[in-house]
Amino acid sequence: MKRNVLITGGAGFIGSNFIRYLQKAEPEINIVNLDLLTYAGSLENLKKLSKNSDYHFFQGDICNQHLVESLLREHNIDTIIHFAAESHVDRSLEGPGAFIQTNIVGTHTLLEAARQVWLNEKRISDKPVRFHHISTDEVYGSLSPTAPPFEETTPYAPNSPYAASKASSDHLVRAYYHSFELPITISNCSNNYGPYQFPEKLIPLMILNALTGKPLPIYGDGQQIRDWLYVEDHCEAIWKIIQHGSTGESYNIGGGNQPTNLEIVETICALLDDKAPLPDNEPHRQLIQFVKDRPGHDRRYAMNITKIKNTLGWQPNYNLEKGLEKTVQWYLDNIDWLNKIIEEKDYQQWVQINYQKRGN
Ligand code: NAD
Ligand code: TYD
Repeated sequence: MKRNVLITGGAGFIGSNFIRYLQKAEPEINIVNLDLLTYAGSLENLKKLSKNSDYHFFQGDICNQHLVESLLREHNIDTIIHFAAESHVDRSLEGPGAFIQTNIVGTHTLLEAARQVWLNEKRISDKPVRFHHISTDEVYGSLSPTAPPFEETTPYAPNSPYAASKASSDHLVRAYYHSFELPITISNCSNNYGPYQFPEKLIPLMILNALTGKPLPIYGDGQQIRDWLYVEDHCEAIWKIIQHGSTGESYNIGGGNQPTNLEIVETICALLDDKAPLPDNEPHRQLIQFVKDRPGHDRRYAMNITKIKNTLGWQPNYNLEKGLEKTVQWYLDNIDWLNKIIEEKDYQQWVQINYQKRGN
């Protein structure tokens, strides 16, 4: 079935990787990308798109229902893949308002637009429609060191404004299925890494700082654990769910890689010792600095991916070693992309706001 897809947030990290993935997997597909181009979104992330596919970009806000409805009508959209969000926990601690607006109000606006155009006006009658919502493992809260990984049935217990806003949006999406029969699916994924990730998140920030000889700021004791997934694996899982997942269901996605933050940073340092040695071959790990912890810092996330593995046959292709090597190499090969971001005022301001108070 040839789909007409609306992607929200397609100029961000995962969204832009997903568009490239989809153009390769389904060259015939029509893609409409709606992105506000906040600090986290950039058309630089979309320069390497295929010229052969049908692709349209619109700069605009998912909170603008009139705009979203007109895109759905004009492009006969049958599939919405909703990535757009404020996505950084530390920023949500500085200012939760934008997270409430984009993640909750924005998701509600998209749901209302889909309900109006698909269910009330019945614009798409010849094929099934689908609203796929991209969410996070952070909605489940924090695990003790020995607790079993999160399952789809684990009760929600979000701890940061970011996680709470994503949990809220998940509940709204679920409610639109139960109340209005809007055909939805939800995926909750663990921490992603890979090309085009904005250097405010752990892995690209550490690569960038190490390359520029700056301190590598580890929050607290660095023993926190995340379930790292290479972004291309996430893209493949999303597309599998959209094609073959059951309506109304949610699916956990994870990488099965669970090192501590400190181990991740040490691995990056070792890769850079090899690929971009410091003068006199000093080890990059000498740049590591333990700094004041993130308030309410979740200790451990881990995903049980049995459901998506057994029902859709998905599992990650990349282990952490392979994924990190590819990622470090990508940043080394794309220094110009990094330099453009760090020259921007917003990035410099953020670094000052977040790290000065931590004694870094
Ligand atoms: P990102 O911050 O890199 O990109 C977000 C994109 O959304 C940007 O292009 C931004 O311009 C756009 N955007 C923000 N507000 C908007 C608005 N009001 N209207 C239209 N566009 C807007 O985020 P990401 O890391 O690519 O994450 C994408 C999605 O995946 C998010 O929903 C996030 O919660 C989820 N997720 C991320 C991770 C991760 O590790 N990065 C893990 C699990 C789930
Ligand atoms: P991050 O990439 O912000 O993702 P999330 O908070 O969504 O998991 O952070 C990943 C882990 O790295 C998290 O435990 C916080 C930690 N961290 C640091 O230790 N130092 C840093 O400078 C950053 C940005 C994160």
